[in-house]
Amino acid sequence: MFTRLDHIGIAVRDLDKAVAYWSELLELKSDHRIPVPAQGVEVVFIPTRGARLELLAATGPDSPIAKFLERRGEGLHHVCFAVRDIEAELADLKSKGVELIDEKPRLGAEGKRIAFLHPKSTYGVLIELLEE
Ligand code: CO
Repeated sequence: MFTRLDHIGIAVRDLDKAVAYWSELLELKSDHRIPVPAQGVEVVFIPTRGARLELLAATGPDSPIAKFLERRGEGLHHVCFAVRDIEAELADLKSKGVELIDEKPRLGAEGKRIAFLHPKSTYGVLIELLEE
């Protein structure tokens, strides 16, 4: 069961510019920059009263975000739901025929366990699960 919407991921070309823009627009403070070398990305979370925004920028041409920006340009990249037990959730979704990108959880930007579901199974939206 998904417990709540945790964040919405937005792919951006220039992280500093995007952080400044969104922080000013929403009048909210951004968190610090988090490098995720395994994924070739840097992210910054902006907490709102509800779900957070996650701004993602590529750190190299092989990054999935670099490829996404090339194909689709800047914009909505993924939606993340929090779950209590990510392995149980993945097994349950798989049994319901949902296509998984990550069969096993991996470590996300904040050191918590995450996994992605394939957008083919979820109306064209890339879904991230985050274990609380
Ligand atoms: Co995310």
